[in-house]
Amino acid sequence: MQRTSGSTYCTLILVILALPGIVPAAEVRSPDGQIVFSIDVDKSGAPHYRVDYRNESVVSDSRLGMRFETQRGFDAGFRIVDTAGNGNDTTWEQPWGERRIVVDRHNELLVEFVSGERPQRRFKVRVRVFDDGVGFRYEVPEQPGYAKVDIVDELTEFRLQPDATGWWIPARRFNRYEYLYNTTKLKEIQTAHTPMTARLPSGTHVSIHEAALVDYAAFVLDQRRDGVFRTDLTPWSDGIRVKTETPFKSPWRTIQIAPDAVGLLNSDLILNLNEPNKLGDVSWVEPGKYVGIWWGMHLGQNTWGSGPTHGATTAETKRHIDFAAKHGLSGVLVEGWNVGWDGDWYVNGDVFSFTEAYADFDLEEITTYAADKGVELIGHHETSGSITNYEKQMSEAYELYESLGVRKVKTGYVADAGELKRLDERGIARYEWHDGQFSVNHHLRAVREAAKHRISLNPHEPVKDTGLRRTYPNWISREGARGQEYNAWGEPPNPPEHTAILPYTRMLSGPMDFTPGIFDLTFKGADSPFRVQTTLAKQLALYVVLYSPIQMAADLPENYEKRPEAFQFIVDVPTDWEQSIAVAGETGDFVAFARKERDGADWYLGALTDENARKLSIPLGFLDPNASYVAQIYRDGDDAHWKTAPYELVIEERDVLRESTLELTLAAGGGAAIRFSREH
Ligand code: NOJ
Ligand code: CA
Repeated sequence: MQRTSGSTYCTLILVILALPGIVPAAEVRSPDGQIVFSIDVDKSGAPHYRVDYRNESVVSDSRLGMRFETQRGFDAGFRIVDTAGNGNDTTWEQPWGERRIVVDRHNELLVEFVSGERPQRRFKVRVRVFDDGVGFRYEVPEQPGYAKVDIVDELTEFRLQPDATGWWIPARRFNRYEYLYNTTKLKEIQTAHTPMTARLPSGTHVSIHEAALVDYAAFVLDQRRDGVFRTDLTPWSDGIRVKTETPFKSPWRTIQIAPDAVGLLNSDLILNLNEPNKLGDVSWVEPGKYVGIWWGMHLGQNTWGSGPTHGATTAETKRHIDFAAKHGLSGVLVEGWNVGWDGDWYVNGDVFSFTEAYADFDLEEITTYAADKGVELIGHHETSGSITNYEKQMSEAYELYESLGVRKVKTGYVADAGELKRLDERGIARYEWHDGQFSVNHHLRAVREAAKHRISLNPHEPVKDTGLRRTYPNWISREGARGQEYNAWGEPPNPPEHTAILPYTRMLSGPMDFTPGIFDLTFKGADSPFRVQTTLAKQLALYVVLYSPIQMAADLPENYEKRPEAFQFIVDVPTDWEQSIAVAGETGDFVAFARKERDGADWYLGALTDENARKLSIPLGFLDPNASYVAQIYRDGDDAHWKTAPYELVIEERDVLRESTLELTLAAGGGAAIRFSREH
């Protein structure tokens, strides 16, 4: 029997054609009617879907389904037996974020597939269509013969236009997510991590990703035929992709769609597909800015391990605490404080202690000193990918930090991709991927355990973000892309276009601990290839452009003291926002974000460009009506250029209104950062 139901928001059409050999199909549209998701089965009973936007095919006829190790697959022999529709138009509030109030407006379709033979195989696909894209997931109920299932393949495809332009990083390579982005035709890709973003010849922009990755493997995109991207679930060390039991749900497979590049940046689809906060009162999760004993190690001036240039000493930490206190920064990160860094720490993860400090680092003295100054120590746990060693100590380590008033911990998983070490039940070492089901589950174990101790986590070399910060707001930030550290030692360092691609790719998944704010851009001399390929103004712009509720002032305190006027922007810029609006941009070329502070009246703007200088004309229509502002502008000087004159910075003021238009000139590799202080 076929059935449809729905609310006023829902446009759901079930088409039943009584002709022999032709099967039922169903479709659901976005609230604004522009996106149409259709689902059906082909002649072999294989489930398929497609997505159209403004009458253009965005994802053409693509397979759905999955296969199991021992049971028959959900691949063919199915028909649709039931569909149900629903609509939603609600808002919810983020404890911290790019915007306080998020609108969740979508239409939903639940489609039930059943196979012909007995006992029947059954599964459902739940689809949500928003004005900014589509999410769909598999829901597999309990059924005879499928109590325990090992998924060996997911058949979900995204059939995209092969000649569309894509921005992507390769998957299943040693360096996890830390690659420079490629800009090519989609058909030139082999494997790609998500979010993978594409511009269709029509100008429509699309990004493929996933939401709510829980107890499942992440997928990477594997291009089979030209334009046909298969979800390739990252396997366990024994080859199984997902070990689960019925009932289970897959993460949402997501397709963000916008008429232009900027439209993608204003999408809340990933967060909307995650479940609400499960932690209750999270007032202890606090955004903020921090300095750290960190860049000195990346520059090679200090060591993580013990010795004459050990970075993490009591005296150095106190100096950083004094600096943070003086400038109103809330935290001081210290890396290399704990025993285990000596020798080759990249491969020695098993010897890390997360409770024992080096002799020249007095943890209690430091945390008392910090508390007296109103500053917090930010903890650090580098695991070097030895997960069992970390999990054994995790609870005790968080307990120690909690007892000392530490409320944020940066974790690290430096190990080649596929080399996360776990000991199995028999004590045999197994090596897992950073984005397999084991790692996905490890990260959530850590986040939940940390929450018990009112600690927020900031993992580096993490699993990719899929919006779980909504459900677990103490998952406060993460790395998961090439960050600033590559400018210290990367060959090559991040080119100017890197931060003009990140907003349209990695940042669509959530906050990134990029660690902006390097002021000594030419630390090895202007002619050395090891340098930061931006102007000073662009370093300031990154605080507004690359969203994270915790932002580092990544350079050494002495470099900030040399440039107090520029440093003022870092002191002023908030890390928590009432509203964020991407106002201009093209993927890989430039971007401009306007953001309004929470609990205040000021707006901020960050704009940056790739290796090309450009002029931007930005209407200030985002400013509040009937208000006047002083714009404090930190911009590239007229001769600025990332290579030849990176320090040419002009700081000036202008009176502006909502009706004003700001003309900005960005240098090659440059940017601009602006605070709009509200006058009345
Ligand atoms: C890699 C992290 O990204 C970096 O920030 C950290 O300093 C090192 N691992 C050491 O933990
Ligand atoms: Ca890293």
